[in-house]
Amino acid sequence: MTVPADTLERAVEPLLRWFDREARPLPWRDDPSPYRVWVSEVMLQQTRIEAVKPYFARFMEALPTVEALAQAEEEQVLKLWEGLGYYSRARNLHKAAKAVVENFHGQVPGTVKGLLNLPGVGAYTAGAVASIAFGEKAPAVDGNVLRVVSRLLCREDDVGSPAVKKRVESEILAILPEGRAGAFNQAIMELGEVVCVPGTPRCGDCPLEGLCEARQLGVEASLPVKGQKKPRRVEARTVFVLSCGERLALRKRPDSGLLAGMWELPSVQGHLGKAEARQILEQWGLAAVQLRRLEDSRHIFSHLEWQMWNWDVQAAQRAPGFVWATAAQLREEYALPSAFDGVLKGAWGLTTWACPLHR
Ligand code: ADE
Repeated sequence: MTVPADTLERAVEPLLRWFDREARPLPWRDDPSPYRVWVSEVMLQQTRIEAVKPYFARFMEALPTVEALAQAEEEQVLKLWEGLGYYSRARNLHKAAKAVVENFHGQVPGTVKGLLNLPGVGAYTAGAVASIAFGEKAPAVDGNVLRVVSRLLCREDDVGSPAVKKRVESEILAILPEGRAGAFNQAIMELGEVVCVPGTPRCGDCPLEGLCEARQLGVEASLPVKGQKKPRRVEARTVFVLSCGERLALRKRPDSGLLAGMWELPSVQGHLGKAEARQILEQWGLAAVQLRRLEDSRHIFSHLEWQMWNWDVQAAQRAPGFVWATAAQLREEYALPSAFDGVLKGAWGLTTWACPLHR
């Protein structure tokens, strides 16, 4: 089967016309300043648009400028990110904002080349910000774009491979329309999000249906091809919902690695029965406590799964080595990752106190 060489190029006009008609009104589109576009694109990595919207609004209200972000405490940035996951994105964004203020007088670099020097900014983010906020002809290829292109050109190569991504980036670079590179990038991403969706796409609504090679052959649902991912590692953990009166014990996680710098419920590796749990609690200075086993829970990270045994512990005194937080402090100050949502749900029922946005 041969696909006409100009198929991608012929998709540009219908795609732009579709986007002009159908583009969703999004907060960062109404006011596409470089800072807003940048923050939105970082939030949108690995997170759906609908989930991002309230986070974006809250973030912009608290930190409306790159200067405000640069001056913020890391704790505040992580708290604003609480529940979005992939917290290294927030830490890098914070570092990058400081670099923008220190090195570029608070002006977000306007080119892919300049953006790529910032912490956490890769080809996708640089291309998205440079094209959407500055009009540079630069591709922004994410999973949605790879899916659309795989189907349009009926390609069976593995979209997880870096070489395939590079190839698509250079093909898109070659056809980006003058003056509308940002619109094209957003259009093709949006098509992937709302029409050319994973599984069974909504081809009847697609402006590219007549051009789409996979559709002509009836194979759209079996594309794109994704190679086998490494299976997720499973880690057994024991988590303590450790309370003393109205306060809950929290600990800060180390500054690097998984959930770096976030707060956590005290936890240890392995599954501990009652006697072993008691021993650990004694080491922490919490002797003669009430222990009750809670429902097990699990949390899936991108590369890891935690299988948690959970213990509810009523402590008689606030042992040192923990922060003993009130409900109000949990709501307003301490960023507790959603990995612990299931644990607290088991202990206290609905955890609406924890994060007004999504819990
Ligand atoms: N997904 C990620 N960024 C996007 C954007 N700017 N427009 C549409 N979908 C997106």
